[in-house]
Amino acid sequence: MKKMKGLLLVLLLIVGIAFAGCAQEEKSVQEPKTTPAAEEKTTPAAEEKPYDLVTDGVLTVGSDIAYPPFEYTDEKTGEYTGFDIDLMTEVAKRLGLEVKFVNTAWDGIIPGLQAKKYDVICSAMTITEERAKQVDFSNPYFEAKQVILTSAKDESINGVKDLAGKKVAVQQGTTGDFAAVKLTEKGIQLEIIRFEGTPEALMAIQKGDAAAAIIDNFVAYLAAKKDPETYRVVEDPEFEPEYYGIAVHKDNKGLLEAINKVLEEMKKDGTYDQIYNKWFGQ
Ligand code: ARG
Repeated sequence: MKKMKGLLLVLLLIVGIAFAGCAQEEKSVQEPKTTPAAEEKTTPAAEEKPYDLVTDGVLTVGSDIAYPPFEYTDEKTGEYTGFDIDLMTEVAKRLGLEVKFVNTAWDGIIPGLQAKKYDVICSAMTITEERAKQVDFSNPYFEAKQVILTSAKDESINGVKDLAGKKVAVQQGTTGDFAAVKLTEKGIQLEIIRFEGTPEALMAIQKGDAAAAIIDNFVAYLAAKKDPETYRVVEDPEFEPEYYGIAVHKDNKGLLEAINKVLEEMKKDGTYDQIYNKWFGQ
């Protein structure tokens, strides 16, 4: 009797493997009716793809690559560089994939993910409730907050209250934009000027078209560090911490899981800190 059972199991296994082979090609093929125990053994994890990719073997990353130090084009080499670029290059490597960055305007970056133009968004994107309705987010990978960036020559702005009556530049659809709207709702009557990209918002301060910008802190710190004659950073406790996440299509939970796992490993083994220190060391 025991022998018979063993034989049956082996038979089921063979049949199962054969079926699994077919089912890979055509997902609609009905699973063979097997006992739960046999079923477990006939679904070899390695054969089932754990997630979808736009291009086989490649992790395609959408990013608005005009946001130093997170993502920008190196003037000398013409190559994409930055914290997010290093992070995703390492994530892809650990998933056994090539990495490809697709430079995408911020406006439309989420629809682009939904339309499967890329597998993920990594673009210093803050995890928000609204966005989380449209995409899945990885575990947070970076803490940030909004700050005011103003002209180094202007001493009048030293907190959010001083923005009343001033023109304030933001990148449209960013958390800086949302924070500016919130300030107006709180009664600080500022005038929001929206730009498609952050570089234009910064330029507006330089040209005197805007008195200030509301943007992510590390982007502001870098601008002021590079050009202290032009820019000055003003912090205000009004702005709350926010967290960047990698956005994944809602149909691609397998990829989300794989990315979270790799992120955790990178945090544990010091690789995350290494990348962090490279960009934010001092
Ligand atoms: N963290 C902000 C947000 O999510 C701004 C991100 C802008 N990123 C960029 N690459 N331009 O809204």
